[in-house]
Amino acid sequence: MTLVLGIESSCDETAAALVDGERRILAQAIASQEAEHAPYGGVVPEIAARAHAERLMPLIEKVLSEAQKGLNDCDAIAATAGPGLIGGVMVGLVSAKALAMASDKPLLAINHLEGHALSPRLADPELEFPYALLLVSGGHCQLLRVDGVGQYRRFATTIDDALGEAFDKSAKILGLGYPGGPALERLALQGDAAAVPLPRPLVGSGEPHFSFAGLKSAVLRAAESGEHKPEDIAASFQQAAVDCLLDRTKIALQAMGPVNALVLAGGVAANKVIRSAIEGLAEDHSIGFTAPPLKLCTDNAAMIAWAGIEKLSIGTKPDPLNISARPRWPLDPDAEPVRGAGYKA
Ligand code: KG4
Ligand code: ZN
Repeated sequence: MTLVLGIESSCDETAAALVDGERRILAQAIASQEAEHAPYGGVVPEIAARAHAERLMPLIEKVLSEAQKGLNDCDAIAATAGPGLIGGVMVGLVSAKALAMASDKPLLAINHLEGHALSPRLADPELEFPYALLLVSGGHCQLLRVDGVGQYRRFATTIDDALGEAFDKSAKILGLGYPGGPALERLALQGDAAAVPLPRPLVGSGEPHFSFAGLKSAVLRAAESGEHKPEDIAASFQQAAVDCLLDRTKIALQAMGPVNALVLAGGVAANKVIRSAIEGLAEDHSIGFTAPPLKLCTDNAAMIAWAGIEKLSIGTKPDPLNISARPRWPLDPDAEPVRGAGYKA
């Protein structure tokens, strides 16, 4: 039975997990840095890197001992090698290299986005390629066609903010603290989604890309005007986000051709309103819908270990011990750069 140790440290979650080829998560541990970053209203890269360095090794020891396994029982050590905050990625990758070297096990350098892209298959054994993936997190907002392990075609990305970032920044404007996505969703429950007129950036455009910076600025103006209740702004923002996602995903599905399912992944997939809207869209297209359970949607190491298992299953060669961490690492290297400022991988 294949067994892989996964390591994740690309943002503000330090995580380790042991996953086997039967999709069993033998053990996993996550240390969140929310408290460290909360005073700054966002992730501070230097603080994140230091926290990863302090916490990672004890977490790895913890999962190994919980699963009663040693490094020798593992078939590979898989670590996020990018994209992400480079200091944190380096902590995880260098630790993985050291463990791989000491135990004479193969190293697998995993693209964090590939972890998100394949995580639905860890949760759902029935999910077959090809599927459309809407990946919405704090750092990414992309629409991909997933044809197989290592086979990703990107149809859309954001030309400015990721959706989670827009949730977090809007929440900050509304004084909701960090990370604001879940708090904004809670506040929106009490508001009127039609109360505040907000823009739907790029809706109607022929290319399925995303843009959320203008929406966030409109939230700021609405808040500063003093004319609206915060709960109405929250609900209206969330509705605008849903409208953008639906319109953009529809266009992408047309461009992609037939797929088996529409898959929602990334931290924002935790949002119930977004989840049910995307599920409805899949129903309209008569395709399956799946979203991994919450703990596999937000950043975690089980998805990194699972990506390692998927790569081993197609015979991927181990990565060399001098492989570099990559702050930018597009899943689809052939994707055309998008017009507009601040292009994100
Ligand atoms: O995937 P993730 O854990 O980290 C990244 O790779 O970025 O996603 C975290 C993001 C944050 O921006 C957070 O505010 C957002 O996901 N998020 C939500 C909700 N839960 C988490 N956004 C909207 N509604 C939620 N319920
Ligand atoms: Zn992520």
